[in-house]
Amino acid sequence: MERTLVILKPSAIQRALAGEVIRRFERKGLKLCAIKMMQLSDELIQQHYAHLVDRPFFPRIKESMQATPVIVCCWEGIEAVQVVRDLAGTTNGRKAAPGSIRGDFGVSVQENIIHASDTVENAAIELNRFFGADEIFDYQQSALNFIYASDEL
Ligand code: PPS
Repeated sequence: MERTLVILKPSAIQRALAGEVIRRFERKGLKLCAIKMMQLSDELIQQHYAHLVDRPFFPRIKESMQATPVIVCCWEGIEAVQVVRDLAGTTNGRKAAPGSIRGDFGVSVQENIIHASDTVENAAIELNRFFGADEIFDYQQSALNFIYASDEL
């Protein structure tokens, strides 16, 4: 099983899409292992978008990500990183496929509803960045045998 981080950005919060987005991950069969609302600090944004700090649009990312609290969550499943990326759609909402979260709810690169970890390695780093070990829960998903076939588990 893999775990991955999703951030419901201020665009999701302000547009009252949090429930809809969470519902899509639940409906898919992913297991919710952690969830909380938080106001992102300067330090956390600096770390999370470290690869973009030198880009001209970084100040706007920071302002946008601090416009409201965000909701961070951890989803678990087989190949969860890619499954969540596929549900999210491509970064630019104008180009994202209809049916994906960004494709259905966004027309922007920044205001693109969610952030989703892009690799298994980054997912582990990002989960560690946003959650303490005691905030990520390990529990039995009772429908597991109806979500996956026995030879997939
Ligand atoms: S992705 O989907 O996150 O892997 O895509 P990536 O291109 O790496 O993400 C870039 C993040 O920066 C935000 N952002 C922009 N990217 C490119 N160009 C512009 N102008 C821009 N403005 C903001 C974009 O929303 C991605 O944020 P996250 O939180 O990763 O989705």
